[in-house]
Amino acid sequence: MQTNLRGRDLISLQEWTKEEIDTILDVAFQLKRERALGIPHPLLRDRVLAMLFFFSSTRTRASFEAGMAQLGGHAQFIESRTTQISHGDTAKEIGEILGRYNDGIAIRNVDWGVGNGYIRDVAAASRVPVLNMQCDLYHPHQSLADLMTILEKKGSPKGLTIDISWAYAASYQKPISVPVDLSLLTSRYGMHVRLVHPPEFRLPTDVVDQAAENARRSGGSFEVMDDFDAGMRGADIVYAKSWGALLTATDEADGKAIADRYTDWITDERRLALAAGDAIYMHPLPADRGVEVADAVIDGPHSVVYDEAENRLHAQKAVMALTMG
Ligand code: CP
Repeated sequence: MQTNLRGRDLISLQEWTKEEIDTILDVAFQLKRERALGIPHPLLRDRVLAMLFFFSSTRTRASFEAGMAQLGGHAQFIESRTTQISHGDTAKEIGEILGRYNDGIAIRNVDWGVGNGYIRDVAAASRVPVLNMQCDLYHPHQSLADLMTILEKKGSPKGLTIDISWAYAASYQKPISVPVDLSLLTSRYGMHVRLVHPPEFRLPTDVVDQAAENARRSGGSFEVMDDFDAGMRGADIVYAKSWGALLTATDEADGKAIADRYTDWITDERRLALAAGDAIYMHPLPADRGVEVADAVIDGPHSVVYDEAENRLHAQKAVMALTMG
């Protein structure tokens, strides 16, 4: 266990050692247990977290805000649209100023080619930890909750096969941050990782190379595939969600035209039956029901999506308690 995490930013888990990530998970399970038992844990009394959103959210906002209250502190909800950012406040000013009012700054900015750089610019100017609530490249608090859920449902992740697959959605070009982060994290835990997508939905080369290197070091494997059914076959964990063809076309209409070639990429009962008999179905939500996933799957006996969403709360509380304490 690592005990020297105070003041650390969490922008990408790839910048944290496995031992440090294990510490977060250990604390998350402790806080989850204490909450179930009604044991208060005001570890951040009088501390304040600024939550700056450039994009909508249900789970991330609600779980960070509830988590800060349960830790004895407070979370400020700040939407970029109602700040002076549009009138000139720079990332440096946000880091300097919000860092002087608060004990942590959490940011969601998923703008393609912008979000990660923005968060890093704020962090460079901030005297307090900066937490990534999702950018164009990473969604580390989602991945932590996902790994926590896998540990709960499956025990040791080593040797498990996870199918991280693209699925069709009609709503919008969703960020690539979930498959990127999940590929990078699960490959560090000795898992057999299948990244499955039509060719136009590829992830950045450096991510694929890093995931392969992670798998080599951890004794797992990492394979890129383009056949939805083959990715499902025998998988212990089915994690199928939509993301945008952002490395192929950043224009929303062009991206939709590409996605519309693959409307049959839905996780339905036939496909889920190809996975292991005790497979779990995961999704970070929101899902495009009836398009991305069938109701019978997301509401069915293999689905763990609500436990997964709950674990956002516990994982984030652990990160905040360790970095902002
Ligand atoms: N999974 C996730 O990040 O959900 P929100 O977009 O609702 O925060």
